[in-house]
Amino acid sequence: MCGIFGYAGSNSAGHLVVKGLQRLEYRGYDSWGIAISENNKIAFVKSLQPLAEAADIYNKEKFMPANTAIGHTRWATHGGVTNVNAHPHLSKSGEFALVHNGIVENYQTLKEELIAQGYDFVSETDTEVIVRLVEAELVHTKSLEQALVSAFLKLDGRNTIALLESKTYLILAIRNGSPLVLGKAADGYFLGSDSLSFADETNEVLILDDMQMVSITKNILKIHDIKTNKPVFKDFKKIESQNVLVDKDGYEHFMLKEISEQSHTIKIASNSEEILASGFEKVCKSASRIFTVGAGSAAYAAGQIAYYLRSYASLPAFELKAYEFESYAKQFTDQDLVIAVSQSGETADTIEAIEIAKQKNVTIASIVNMQGSTIPAISDYSFFTRSGPEICVVSTKAFSAQCAWGLALAKAVAGDIQGHKKEIHDVQHKLEQYLSDSINKGAQDLAKLLSKHEHVFVLGRGQNYFIALEGALKLKETTYTHAEGFAAGELKHGVIALIEKGTPVIVLISDDAYHNAMINAAAEIKSRGAYVIGIAASDNPLFDKHIPSVDLKHLSALANLIPIQLTAYYLALELGLPPDKPRNLAKSVTVK
Ligand code: G6P
Repeated sequence: MCGIFGYAGSNSAGHLVVKGLQRLEYRGYDSWGIAISENNKIAFVKSLQPLAEAADIYNKEKFMPANTAIGHTRWATHGGVTNVNAHPHLSKSGEFALVHNGIVENYQTLKEELIAQGYDFVSETDTEVIVRLVEAELVHTKSLEQALVSAFLKLDGRNTIALLESKTYLILAIRNGSPLVLGKAADGYFLGSDSLSFADETNEVLILDDMQMVSITKNILKIHDIKTNKPVFKDFKKIESQNVLVDKDGYEHFMLKEISEQSHTIKIASNSEEILASGFEKVCKSASRIFTVGAGSAAYAAGQIAYYLRSYASLPAFELKAYEFESYAKQFTDQDLVIAVSQSGETADTIEAIEIAKQKNVTIASIVNMQGSTIPAISDYSFFTRSGPEICVVSTKAFSAQCAWGLALAKAVAGDIQGHKKEIHDVQHKLEQYLSDSINKGAQDLAKLLSKHEHVFVLGRGQNYFIALEGALKLKETTYTHAEGFAAGELKHGVIALIEKGTPVIVLISDDAYHNAMINAAAEIKSRGAYVIGIAASDNPLFDKHIPSVDLKHLSALANLIPIQLTAYYLALELGLPPDKPRNLAKSVTVK
């Protein structure tokens, strides 16, 4: 996690860094910090306040005119959320400042060695170990660049760093594992943990590879490989212009805005023609097995995609959790296909799963939202959901777009493009109406009801199974309520023991082959005293509360999810919690 930003050019670095960091806040919002060079010394600011509320701090005159700066948003891993632990971390002499994204896995050993050599530490972070290591290397060399490389090569784990040298106004950055993207604009160079952080300034992007170091000043950019010590010549590429409107657009929170965009984003992601144009449907048909993989919400979307591929394209598709991938490694062959699912394209667990599969020559495809990110760059076939920036930390529109893409893929494989197009046209139309109807009122009422309960369960089957898991995750993440999603078929095998008088249970029902089985499940929990909340197109006497849904055929489960997303949002408000930035979470988990 953590976000890194840098700028060297002729514009006001202060403004650009603040804007960049605001866009990177999704990577961690425990603290932020900026460093500039002033009179041959580093000047810095650090704060635990949200960036948006800290204008008075960063607006200090000296930060605005600077033309070179680095910045950081932190998601605490080593050391509490304190000002001392916030980045940037400075060398004792004030010669340089450093920011870091990753985990130095051997930091304890390195720290002990440095302490034994007489170095002392002010913070609890693993990042400060890098700073002291560089200082220790500088005893043997005058070149900061050399010292940084020697220090970096001693680090274990996935680490990406950026350093600002005060005398030269030089930014040095090295990538290993965690993302680092460069941007070239008319007035200078940018670096960021993603390309969205500088998307208003340029869409000319260069993705650094692992173990590459970049040095930038206002008008010079050099890259070299720190393992071979050879220069690297790479061109900037124009990426698809991203919808960079990072704005609440009149909504109180990004979460509500992003939920309400789903009629549009589901349509955009349902691009079966793009799949055909790349011939990917043939790749799917000839694969001996297809493994879909992701983490968090993307893991549930991976489950839904595999479900669609099995059910509507008769393909042998199975979902795997990215963080449990390793144990399957020996089973893969070059006849297999992995489809990686990710909003950010940067999740460390998912990237590692891809790396494991690649060792067995498995074909890699991906469905990602963020252009210019790592996962598409390491995939043989890359597809994009094109949902626009998803800023709220919990995923809503990106999740439903990933699922919708999965149906498009299944339909492309099945050769039913025309039928699918018609279906999606209908879906968009019905969802637009659904989202503008009284659905908010139903969700607000449900939120009020749930605010009085400690536990809530969500049941689904077939197309609603992974949606039940995702719905429960939304409630957990946003409201800190204990919510569990279950396969309705699991009920009698143990789960039903949890039901007592008044336990709220949300049942997700679609007009499909599982309809009657779900009604039976509702009857079983009702007879044990549960308070049954039915999310379904039509009401049923078994429901204590009915939240009307809309029949979208194969995508009906996505319509059933919307009231839960909204309930999670309204319940967060009811409980006085911040829906866009729940505690302890980061949107992009770039550490293991
Ligand atoms: C984190 C986020 C989740 C997200 C998951 C995977 O856990 O909090 O919302 O689903 O990472 O992220 P990705 O960017 O790979 O979809």
